[in-house]
Amino acid sequence: MRLILIGPPGVGKGTQAKKIARKHDIPQISTGDILRDAVANQTSLGKEVQGYLDRGELVPDSLMLDLIEDTITSDRCDNGFILDGFPRTIPQAEGLDRLLRKYDMELNDVVVLEVDENIIIDRLSSRRSCTNCGHIYNLKTNPPEHSGICDQCGGELIQRDDDKPATIKNRLEVYREQTKPLVNYYDQQGLLIRVDGTGSIRDVYERIRDVLDL
Ligand code: AP5
Ligand code: MG
Repeated sequence: MRLILIGPPGVGKGTQAKKIARKHDIPQISTGDILRDAVANQTSLGKEVQGYLDRGELVPDSLMLDLIEDTITSDRCDNGFILDGFPRTIPQAEGLDRLLRKYDMELNDVVVLEVDENIIIDRLSSRRSCTNCGHIYNLKTNPPEHSGICDQCGGELIQRDDDKPATIKNRLEVYREQTKPLVNYYDQQGLLIRVDGTGSIRDVYERIRDVLDL
């Protein structure tokens, strides 16, 4: 199974991708998580991309395509993958199409999650993530049992640096200008499925499960 999840910041891509990945035993490839790990470990990639993440801008396409080529051809993607946060521009989508042809792979579906911007701002302002296992919480809708501590692994919960109001605003603009055109791109390829991202995490998961026939 090879899936792509697209949608604006905070729509629930990571939350839903983790659920699908766990249930169907395929890896969730979150380019945001990979880049944040690189920044946290101050690798050469991390040093190169830190400024882009801090400003809520996109990392250059060529860098992202190299990273994705390495990832989708690694052993862990032998049974497929869910891409969460990639592609994000038309050149990235065209580059991915070239890679899929090169390695004789096919996409099954592209799911776009949709919610109103006011819900997004609310969700992002109260998000917390585990520094150890990456589990995603929300102080309002999906809080941890003990404040600041991950229910799954006991790790420390933090607020992402790019969840400040000014950066959220910029990320939403970047989405509208650079990523939203992908909806048409995949619609024209007959791969697009629109899913309403409102309601509870379970409601959204059930909608995705139903449309993908999982
Ligand atoms: P990335 O990490 O991909 O961020 P994003 O697209 O802005 O999306 P988020 O991770 O913020 O939101 P999400 O949709 O995963 O929502 P979540 O499930 O956490 O990218 C970060 C940065 O990396 C970019 O700005 C860019 O600089 C760089 N980058 C990454 N990929 C790139 C690429 N391909 N090219 C170039 N640059 C790239 O949910 C949000 C909150 O809502 C949580 O608190 C959650 O608990 C809650 N929630 C989720 N679902 C529900 C629900 N149904 N009801 C109530 N609450 C919910
Ligand atoms: Mg995410």
